[in-house]
Amino acid sequence: MSKKRPSTAPPSTEDRVRLSWRGRSWTYPIRLGTEGEVAVDISTLRRDTGLITLDPGFVNTGACTSDITFIDGERGILRHRGYAIEDLAEHCVFLEVAYLLILGKLPNRTEWQHFSDLMNRHSMIHEDMRDFFLNYPEHAHPMAVLSAMVVSLSSFYPEIGQDDPNEPLDITATRLLSKLRTIAAFSYKKSIGEPFVYPSHRMSYCENFLNMMFSSPVNDYWPDPVVVRALNLFLILHADHEQNCSTSVVRIVGSAGSSLYASIAAGICALWGPLHGGANQAVIEMLERILREDRGRVDKMIERAKKGDPKSRLMGFGHRIYKTYDPRARIAKDACRKLLARLGMHNDPVLEIAMELEEKALNDPYFQERHLYPNVDFYTGIAYRAMGIPTNMFTVMFAIGRLPGWIAHWMENRRDPAQKIGRPRQLYIGEPARPFVPMDQRP
Ligand code: CMC
Repeated sequence: MSKKRPSTAPPSTEDRVRLSWRGRSWTYPIRLGTEGEVAVDISTLRRDTGLITLDPGFVNTGACTSDITFIDGERGILRHRGYAIEDLAEHCVFLEVAYLLILGKLPNRTEWQHFSDLMNRHSMIHEDMRDFFLNYPEHAHPMAVLSAMVVSLSSFYPEIGQDDPNEPLDITATRLLSKLRTIAAFSYKKSIGEPFVYPSHRMSYCENFLNMMFSSPVNDYWPDPVVVRALNLFLILHADHEQNCSTSVVRIVGSAGSSLYASIAAGICALWGPLHGGANQAVIEMLERILREDRGRVDKMIERAKKGDPKSRLMGFGHRIYKTYDPRARIAKDACRKLLARLGMHNDPVLEIAMELEEKALNDPYFQERHLYPNVDFYTGIAYRAMGIPTNMFTVMFAIGRLPGWIAHWMENRRDPAQKIGRPRQLYIGEPARPFVPMDQRP
């Protein structure tokens, strides 16, 4: 630290962090974020000292600077490009938030019209890609299909890098955004053996998705506006969450120079895991198990979760960043209750179990001491279930929602002159050098 300033003074870029080792010392600069976050810049550490840092799970490691999303996990704050998640969830449709994340501003009327037109223009997938769906087994997990289909887009729609100031919308990003919901709905139709339903220019983004999922030649379906509004809101809640596991994957794959399609396909695979986006499927399975096996009594599940076995965690609880109530979970809970009431599902037993589980966990010292609160996945699955979306599609819904965030981060990473190929180091703890043993002399 600089000697001139008292240690209670607010952090400044003049501050330095001193590191001493083996009688020598070095100082490292402080970097400040716009919301008062402080980081020590150790980018020259190994060159100076020969040391590396060891930080499993990157718990303390900032991999980049970013101007997309701000989270204060202690105070339960989430903002995209400066806008509070509460305001975006209340006033926007999902595509507005997608535009905001990717282009850094909310669209005006003209920009909105242009963006919506592009979404319609790119909503179909190449007819030859239809055949791919037919060859998956019926029980194929839709996340596997989604990831494979997204990377396949690169063979049908080669990536176009666009730096035209008059056309700020990257065409590859726009295509991906529009086509992902078509791919998701087609994979569902294939799994239930119904014909594919094409997107329609007469419908909005979310209406189109619901129509492709639920209409059929014998079912003249029109999406319920209540469900459309709820779907917009839930997709907004998923839209970005800074350097989470899948977004970091997207950034790191992109840092190798891989295409947007390839990077997003990798992100979809990362999201699939039950500790990440797969938790929304795991939550419903857990709640249904309580209903089926424990006759709705939640205490057994809570006691099991407290044993410290990673396999019996309370799914939809806990978060690396939030040490208070996840603001997305608060919005999701409220929206979920309203949605179920509007759909006439007032006494849904699964929702009741979820609320009881939450209440008991929040009053239990185990969860209190570890600051474990419901996260975004705790209530979203119940809402998706009420919309008629099958359980194995829940994480696909998360992926559709997270796509604009992934795209925004991939682009930011590409444009950041400070970025290099993502390549962590390690501390080798294996065998030291030893002589090679020919096969017939091995024990
Ligand atoms: N149930 C019971 N105990 C838990 C839970 C849980 N859901 N989550 C964390 N703990 C305990 C954990 O056992 C550890 O206890 P101890 O200190 O005694 O060893 C302590 O809390 C800290 O846990 P951690 O594993 O060090 O925390 P982390 O930041 O590495 O993990 C997490 C965060 C989200 C992976 C974890 O809380 C978890 O597994 N939650 C359940 C899965 C889930 O809901 N995932 C969705 C996350 S939100 C959506 C997204 O962004 O993907």
